Amino acid sequence: MSHHQPDPNKSVNLTINGIPVTVPEGTRILEAAKKANIHIPTLCEHPELCKRALCRICVVECDGRGKLIAACANDVWEGVSIVTNNSRILNIRKTIIELILANHPRDCTFCIRNTKCELQSLAKLYNIVNPLFQNDCADNPPSIESETIVRNMEKCVKCGRCVEACQEVQTIRAINTSHRSKEYEISTPYGQTLKDSSCVFCGQCASVCPVGAIYEHDQCAEVRACLNDSGRKTIAQVPPSFASALENALSLAAGTVTAGKINTAIKLLGFHKVYDMKIAAASASAEIIGEIKARQNAAAGGKLPVITGCAEGVGNFVKNFYPDLAAHLIAEKTARRIFASVTKNGYAKEMGIESSAVTSVSLVPCLAQKYSTEKNKTDFALTAAEFARMINLAGIIIETLHEEQFDAVNIKLPKQDISVKKETVCGFAQGRKVMEAIREGKCNADWVEILSCPDGKCN
Ligand code: SF4
Ligand code: SF4
Ligand code: FES
Repeated sequence: MSHHQPDPNKSVNLTINGIPVTVPEGTRILEAAKKANIHIPTLCEHPELCKRALCRICVVECDGRGKLIAACANDVWEGVSIVTNNSRILNIRKTIIELILANHPRDCTFCIRNTKCELQSLAKLYNIVNPLFQNDCADNPPSIESETIVRNMEKCVKCGRCVEACQEVQTIRAINTSHRSKEYEISTPYGQTLKDSSCVFCGQCASVCPVGAIYEHDQCAEVRACLNDSGRKTIAQVPPSFASALENALSLAAGTVTAGKINTAIKLLGFHKVYDMKIAAASASAEIIGEIKARQNAAAGGKLPVITGCAEGVGNFVKNFYPDLAAHLIAEKTARRIFASVTKNGYAKEMGIESSAVTSVSLVPCLAQKYSTEKNKTDFALTAAEFARMINLAGIIIETLHEEQFDAVNIKLPKQDISVKKETVCGFAQGRKVMEAIREGKCNADWVEILSCPDGKCN
């Protein structure tokens, strides 16, 4: 194994199950195997996170010495001969899976991750039909941590992905590990709920969890109840990024789902109106720029830059970690919330009804945007996974639908003021840097926008 800094310009020659492979120095065994078209199963590994090597599912043998090493955490070296699939290795992997299953609920058919669970796939791959060990799993109900996130630690396989996503990628530390050996568990500081913690509800923990231990709180039933209530009008708003999120949720090829088809599906579900959230960004910008202008003109000097977010959890971030800068915050002014109130009031006026008789449902591209700090909520936000479940249940095959237009929305947009300096950062690690700059007076933007997801792709 090489301990020096790998040089990616240098090639390394090796064999995997007898197949010769040449890869750049610093390539992990897992990647080298892919190059030889050999699949090595994994569980704790995640391509966007660091190597943790906690589960040992990916063990392989090297140089016929019988020593097992983790393919996800070790780089190849010159001349090594790797074996990934002899009966000893297969038996060891099967035993590891059996041991995890012995401590895992057997309610797959009721699990939100059913058919999309990495542990279930491994059990199927290793043909575990008669589990070897007795199941000693407690039957604790899941804990609904907020309207966005549910945790069910009985299902946790202790892969550590969520801890890394929360601590290292997002730098929030709302999730940690506690105890050792048999007692080792994934928990929160002082065992508090996420609601009471420093959580910013970015949803990154749920997006990396391989099983049904952290997931979005499904609100399809509540939305369906509104649609079935004859005394209530239900309207929807759809952002441009929703089509690709829905393709992912439905495992459809890129370009299969269009805004027009989503509109048709929404109407088939019984919604009264569907609005284009493309307008929302412009209308929210106008409102935020108005706020900036007011702060610029304020004699006592309103706090600038203003800080906004793609999601309201950005407000939690500023209040928890930078309370001294809270006066900069206008986190509730998300495009989604502003637009929901504009369309709801506009539609109520058009129909001559109270706006309290209208439910607004936002379709959102990621879990972060589902979170809202609004009090007395009557509105909902559905992720692509939830919306996919709604249309599947209604028997709607979205790719076969015709295309319908959005309903018109009556908003007069003021001319954009381009003299405002805006800085956008992705994820909370970047968010911290910009907050430090504001604190030190080194940020010269008028408007700082923090996007919750580290890759910022959903915006
Ligand atoms: S939602 Fe984000 S901040 Fe909250 S626990 Fe998960 S990763 Fe951490
Ligand atoms: S909650 Fe999910 S991501 Fe976190 S350690 Fe458990 S199985 Fe892994
Ligand atoms: S996938 Fe390699 S140790 Fe878990």
